[in-house]
Amino acid sequence: MTIQQFITAIPKSELHLHIEGSFEPELMFAIAQRNGIQLKYKSAAEVKEAYKFSNLQDFLDIYYAGAGVLLHEQDFYDLTRAYLLKCKEQNVVHTEIFFDPQTHTDRGVAFDTVINGIWRALREAEAEWGITSLLIMSYLRHLSEESAFETLQHGLRHKDKIVAVGLDSSEKGNPPSKFERVFAASREAGFLTVAHAGEEGPSEYIHEALNLLHVSRIDHGNRCLDDESLVQRLVEMKMPLTLCPLSNVALRVIQGMEEHPVKRMLDLGLRATIHSDDPAYFGGYMNENYLETARALHLTKEDVLQLVVNSFEAGFDSAAQKAKNIAAARAFYEAHKD
Ligand code: ADE
Ligand code: ZN
Repeated sequence: MTIQQFITAIPKSELHLHIEGSFEPELMFAIAQRNGIQLKYKSAAEVKEAYKFSNLQDFLDIYYAGAGVLLHEQDFYDLTRAYLLKCKEQNVVHTEIFFDPQTHTDRGVAFDTVINGIWRALREAEAEWGITSLLIMSYLRHLSEESAFETLQHGLRHKDKIVAVGLDSSEKGNPPSKFERVFAASREAGFLTVAHAGEEGPSEYIHEALNLLHVSRIDHGNRCLDDESLVQRLVEMKMPLTLCPLSNVALRVIQGMEEHPVKRMLDLGLRATIHSDDPAYFGGYMNENYLETARALHLTKEDVLQLVVNSFEAGFDSAAQKAKNIAAARAFYEAHKD
């Protein structure tokens, strides 16, 4: 079996996926039309043409505009269903999904509309396809602490549906310290925590995410490599780093896939994992992320197994479920390693 076939067929886990970032232009147009909203582009092809980014903010501006056509529970259901269908096609058996409530509540869409639509699609995918999933409520870091606290209040009404809180959006100038108190309140309420840190922002933000937000995973974390003692600390903590290679190329965090640090990170003993971030915007879902990385960095089947196992281990699902998925991935490797 070739490495490409191996990547495609091995059971995988996704831990860094923004549901709003899985909004494909074709579905965006269909939903805009039924909601009577005029997009500024004439066709899905024209939308894709606009997906040329110089940095994170360039992307975020387009991403928030796209999410603006989502109004009704059915819209959030359709968005989530389409992503889960990709998971089924790509042998992603477990996924932990970010949603950005403030992107919608700031436009007057009710929190319940958002989460109920997403939730219905998650439950159906588990019943129909056996795909397990968890939800992570992400605070937008360019907005105020007060707005994050309001979002937490909404999240508490749906505590049964949310496993963790996260931190995303414009990183530079919005350090983790801005959200220390709302993360403390979130942890007190029983949520686990994660945070985007060291994507565009400095390695200092990774220190803050560890020290002040007490995160269980760092999302991205590329910039840890600027600080040797931080790398040592992350290795000792076995801290997962949820890397997103195609995202890094699209947002110019790196200049090309050949520069991607994932292999170097594995060699340093870091618990690196691979995910898709915003697949509709960055040119691929889980398999494309693995395939492009493997091609550029000459990853072996052992490397891919390591990344897959790291991702299952770093999940927030039960120890029993993780053990079952890891055993399946290892069995797949044993059957197809030659
Ligand atoms: N929101 C969606 N994708 C993001 C990313 N890559 N970084 C920060 N915020 C995001
Ligand atoms: Zn992200």
